[in-house]
Amino acid sequence: MRHNQALRLTGCIAAAAVLAMLYTFGVPQLARFRFRSDLPPYDWGVYGAAPSRSYLSCNLTTPRLEILQWDSRCDSGFTFLAPRGFSVAKPSLLILDAQGEPVWVDYSWGEVQDFKVQQFKGKDYLTFWAGVEIDIHGQGSWYMLNTSYQIQYRISPMGKILSGDLHEFQITDNDTALVTIYDSIPFDLSAVGGPSSGWIYDGLFQEIDIMTGELLFEWRASEHYPINSTFWPMVGGDISKPFDAFHINSVDKDAQGNYLVSMRHTYTVSNIDGKTGAVLWTLGGRLNDFTDVADSGATDFSWQHDARWWGNNTITLLNNAAREYDSPGPYSYGMSIQLDVEARHATLQTIFSDSQKVLATSQGNLQVLENGNIFVGWGHSAAFTEFTPEGEILCDVHFGASAYYSFGRIVSYRILKGTWSGLPLTEPKAKIIGDGVYVSWNGATEVWEWQLKVSDQSQSENPTFSTLGKARKIGFETRISAPNINQYREFRVAALDAHGMVLGETETIKTEAIPIGNISNFQILLTATLISSACLAFWGFWKRYGSYRTWLWKYKTYHIVH
Ligand SMILES: *[C@@H]1O[C@H](CO)[C@@H](O)[C@H](O)[C@H]1NC(C)=O
Ligand SMILES: *[C@@H]1O[C@H](CO)[C@@H](O)[C@H](O)[C@H]1NC(C)=O
Ligand SMILES: *[C@@H]1O[C@H](CO)[C@@H](O)[C@H](O)[C@H]1NC(C)=O
Ligand SMILES: *[C@@H]1O[C@H](CO)[C@@H](O)[C@H](O)[C@H]1NC(C)=O
Ligand SMILES: *[C@@H]1O[C@H](CO)[C@@H](O)[C@H](O)[C@H]1NC(C)=O
Repeated sequence: MRHNQALRLTGCIAAAAVLAMLYTFGVPQLARFRFRSDLPPYDWGVYGAAPSRSYLSCNLTTPRLEILQWDSRCDSGFTFLAPRGFSVAKPSLLILDAQGEPVWVDYSWGEVQDFKVQQFKGKDYLTFWAGVEIDIHGQGSWYMLNTSYQIQYRISPMGKILSGDLHEFQITDNDTALVTIYDSIPFDLSAVGGPSSGWIYDGLFQEIDIMTGELLFEWRASEHYPINSTFWPMVGGDISKPFDAFHINSVDKDAQGNYLVSMRHTYTVSNIDGKTGAVLWTLGGRLNDFTDVADSGATDFSWQHDARWWGNNTITLLNNAAREYDSPGPYSYGMSIQLDVEARHATLQTIFSDSQKVLATSQGNLQVLENGNIFVGWGHSAAFTEFTPEGEILCDVHFGASAYYSFGRIVSYRILKGTWSGLPLTEPKAKIIGDGVYVSWNGATEVWEWQLKVSDQSQSENPTFSTLGKARKIGFETRISAPNINQYREFRVAALDAHGMVLGETETIKTEAIPIGNISNFQILLTATLISSACLAFWGFWKRYGSYRTWLWKYKTYHIVH
């Protein structure tokens, strides 16, 4: 009996310990999940929090998508994103086609943001920011790649030694660049409960002539907005952690030459005089100049991103309504807001929210497409959605499991659509697997059809190749059926455009097929032994070197952008 009582007591203590642990560590984590009973398996994480795809012909890995909804009315252009996150081994630049198939992926830039296609002097360029991220802003430069994926321009901030921030790189109709900069300066923070000899990140933007590098305009938020217009909680404020009072995250320019500036930490969209820098008006936040006569919610945005003009009287933005651990609203949504600037009236016209009502705790953007549709990238939530101008969802795509969105396993600061035509300097890649040849060409947008050519004369200088088969290019990687290819010595694959012109060819490859489907029992045993040993070694390492949290902090590739 004694023995049983002792056992019961031990059981109770163990159960209490488990409950206490769950309450302390488990519940706060569980609260961050967004489980819904109606989630499809992908969003529950059946394929992982950030599912990926790999290919047979090349080494590349791209996110595996979940297409929740697709409609032929969606824009037929490409989608530009820059996935990164705790579950993304290598951040990349990524272009997808209208069906969600990868077109180009490039890991060579490290951390990249704000990837899109823009026009400069009548030509298309891939533009983005690359550098290092420090304290939720960037220190780097802005790049422009031409159609062969080579750097044609690299832009840095002008004036005193400043480094370029990741939030904005917008090319205007006048071939100038609008860029953001975070500059630490000494500042009296007593009005917001901080040190009187404190430090802030001042919010700057510059307009730069891309060809000459001439600085055309510069604006500093601290010269125009009082520090107490911020909603950012007072933490730090010394030189080691300047107070991020303003946080400019988008700059746009109108036909009159004035600038539209979004500042996330003051909840404001400002119109700035293009000559004097004076604030012409402010929408939202504590310094709001507008009346919402229809009580439509036009000024009820918070932690927002990407304010743009849409025509002369309407502004679009993404109302995040959230930052980490603080959500003024239940979900994020795009807004179009009609302004009567003369009368200082603002009216909310349309809201754009996705089917799962995601909450983007940071990042994100809203783009008005050429065809009039509205396209939203959900930033910290790995999703993008295309709407009709009236707000009806047409296409809705996830590139990470939505139940885990708050954990930042995979995110993209912005996601935009556009047209692009690229011809890389690399060659297509091909491999024989079983009785098929798998071929792909990273970045080649104009390939219509693949042509498989074979030869017997490996010894001769100029072997003649004859066509064995053709296959229409479908998706990133195409399989060409080639059951008899082993009868030949070598092969290559040519990429043809829609007019039958050869755009490029793989190198000549020997026809040594990689056998499939005959893995021996010994190989299975060996693999199992290796995996078990690795698990044991990992467990030992874990016990010795501590917790998940310290491990996360040390993880350098991913940072949150606000
Ligand atoms: C795969 O990657 C490795 C190392 O990055 C490289 O050496 C190899 O050539 C690549 N293979 C192919 C098929 O691209
Ligand atoms: C792309 O830029 C590189 C480097 O400036 C240049 O050599 C090349 O000719 C350009 N290619 C195209 C297609 O413009
Ligand atoms: C901010 O400070 C100014 C003085 O600089 C004061 O007039 C104003 O009332 C303050 N606003 C808030 C919201 O505290
Ligand atoms: C382009 O330049 C013209 C002439 O300097 C100016 O009036 C106009 O505001 C500029 N537009 C933009 C978008 O910069
Ligand atoms: C916007 O305003 C400009 C100048 O005031 C005018 O030329 C243009 O037609 C207007 N555009 C629209 C769409 O109303």
